[in-house]
Amino acid sequence: MSEETTFFLDGEPIPFTAGQTILQAAHAAGRYIPHLCWHPDYKPHGSCRLCTVSIGGRSVPACATQASEGLEVANRTPELDDARRMLLQMLFVEGNHFCPSCEKSGQCLLQATAYELGMMGPHFDHFYPNRPVDASHPDVLLDFNRCILCSLCEQASARDGKFVFVMGGRGMRGRKVIINSASGRLADTDFALTDRAANVCPVGVILKKRVGFSVPYGQRRYDRAPVSVAQAQEASRE
Ligand code: SF4
Ligand code: FES
Repeated sequence: MSEETTFFLDGEPIPFTAGQTILQAAHAAGRYIPHLCWHPDYKPHGSCRLCTVSIGGRSVPACATQASEGLEVANRTPELDDARRMLLQMLFVEGNHFCPSCEKSGQCLLQATAYELGMMGPHFDHFYPNRPVDASHPDVLLDFNRCILCSLCEQASARDGKFVFVMGGRGMRGRKVIINSASGRLADTDFALTDRAANVCPVGVILKKRVGFSVPYGQRRYDRAPVSVAQAQEASRE
């Protein structure tokens, strides 16, 4: 008889297979661990720290920590959610997130996670960084004001074999996504709407032109259900 492989997330048993991370297994089981930089198709980047869980009082990123038999993992505790709200507030003030006018509103993972965790305001002073918008491409607009540096576009574009997006710069304020062309403009790459990278951004940076409001506000993915419910429903269909 094969040994049962189960760990516990807030006391609930979660099955897993060898090599799965805590977040992978929880997601597959329809249990929500807050996250921003993790995507099931790409390797964990470990930069947002929203997925931090507690094991025996030690904080670890669920996206980069392997599940193991019998592990007791604390996830949605008041303390962990407090820390997550603070990380979200820092992300909101580090960029320029004008949610009411963003065409990704209702489909944005950052916005949905802030609602899920009950973030009421930014708390910190805004940085108001000066970030360029690149509207040069015929089909795609890039608004870097909303970038959370998750690296998913870089990973997706590498998978596309095009390497259009590259993480560059140093330090919190210097780090940014760079367009890999001599001019630095998206129009001067071979980027196409059919690329994986055109569909991977969890926030409103990589936006398709002319389709922005085809699904009206109020009927979008995270308008219909909170992110914890929406992701559980989607996981059950995967
Ligand atoms: S552009 Fe989007 S996918 Fe790329 S790093 Fe920024 S937030 Fe992530
Ligand atoms: S999802 Fe784990 S660090 Fe971002």
